[in-house]
Amino acid sequence: MAICKVLRMGAPGLLEPALPVKRFGAPELLALVEDMDDTMAAEEGVGLAAVQLGVGLRVIVFGFDDNFRYPDAPPVPKTVLLNPVIQPLTENVEEDWEGCLSVPGMRGLVPRCTRIRYSGSDSAGRPLTREVSGFHARVVQHECDHLDGILYPQRIRDLRRFGFIEELAESGSMTLR
Ligand code: NI
Repeated sequence: MAICKVLRMGAPGLLEPALPVKRFGAPELLALVEDMDDTMAAEEGVGLAAVQLGVGLRVIVFGFDDNFRYPDAPPVPKTVLLNPVIQPLTENVEEDWEGCLSVPGMRGLVPRCTRIRYSGSDSAGRPLTREVSGFHARVVQHECDHLDGILYPQRIRDLRRFGFIEELAESGSMTLR
């Protein structure tokens, strides 16, 4: 059990595509997932990808009951997802404010598909599939992007809608969700 350092934008590890997990249930994998849970809890994030801890494996964790960073977001079940695959269920795309533990103190307006099916497996290799929408769908798309070396600023359509949380909130550009 450990709280790990989260890589920040600019670290080359965040730009590398991650490799699929093959050894489900392996002690190193379980230790990684525990570190990710501990780190996400300590940083009060809504999700975390293994690459953010410098481990190039397709592992994400996400979920919360309530979160001060996104006070109006509905709860998302606490989930560990390995080798995730996303399938869009609509062509609808919605923009909303997004942040990332690797881009601390900032937010940007990011377009995401509003409804997706995602599948993958838990750390023991048991399959998991869900159909979700809204914030839940947004979080999973954000975390899966990390596995392909993509950070949310790369998705922002208008970089005038990217900045420091305090400035965006103060100027009224961003309605805190
Ligand atoms: Ni992130």
